[in-house]
Amino acid sequence: MSTQVEPEIDTPKVTSAQPLSLAGLVGALNAQQVRPELEQIYEWLKSAEISREELGPYLGFKEGNYWRHRVCRNEFAEMLVLCWRPGHRTPIHDHNGSHGVVRVYDGVMWETIFVFDEEKGLGYKSGRERSRGEVTGSDVPDIHQLGNPEVSGQDLITIHIYAPPLGVLKTYKVGSPEIDLYTPDDSQS
Ligand SMILES: [Fe+2]
Repeated sequence: MSTQVEPEIDTPKVTSAQPLSLAGLVGALNAQQVRPELEQIYEWLKSAEISREELGPYLGFKEGNYWRHRVCRNEFAEMLVLCWRPGHRTPIHDHNGSHGVVRVYDGVMWETIFVFDEEKGLGYKSGRERSRGEVTGSDVPDIHQLGNPEVSGQDLITIHIYAPPLGVLKTYKVGSPEIDLYTPDDSQS
């Protein structure tokens, strides 16, 4: 009897992950056992390939304010699709301990970054424009405001992942040391 050495099974190394669809992103988020890192979320959203058809159930605009459509939420993360008419924008806020990543699906997004000084209050730091396909991350404790500029003349659709899910946010006013609390509106009307 001879002892045969089993040939090693040749398993190809996965060098780059497959781009995720929207359903794939939901699957990835639901598989988490801990809060996903900012870099991981960034990679998922940056490489994702999401069809308009898949996004369909989460598209809807309303007058007066942007509309938040939740795609999924668990203990560790949540994903939302936000639909903005020209001129819609968030309050100036931070994420109160969550980190998050935004991908511009369609349209143009303006992001304004602020700094908070205990004595002087809130001040402008920088502004930047993000267009279709671009991804931007915000770590703790970034203070920012997102919006679809009035002058864009087009609707804006953005996809957001936050970890952990957003709770009550802190909001700020330029030139003021005052901090308020704000709960994002998730009502579907
Ligand atoms: Fe934000």
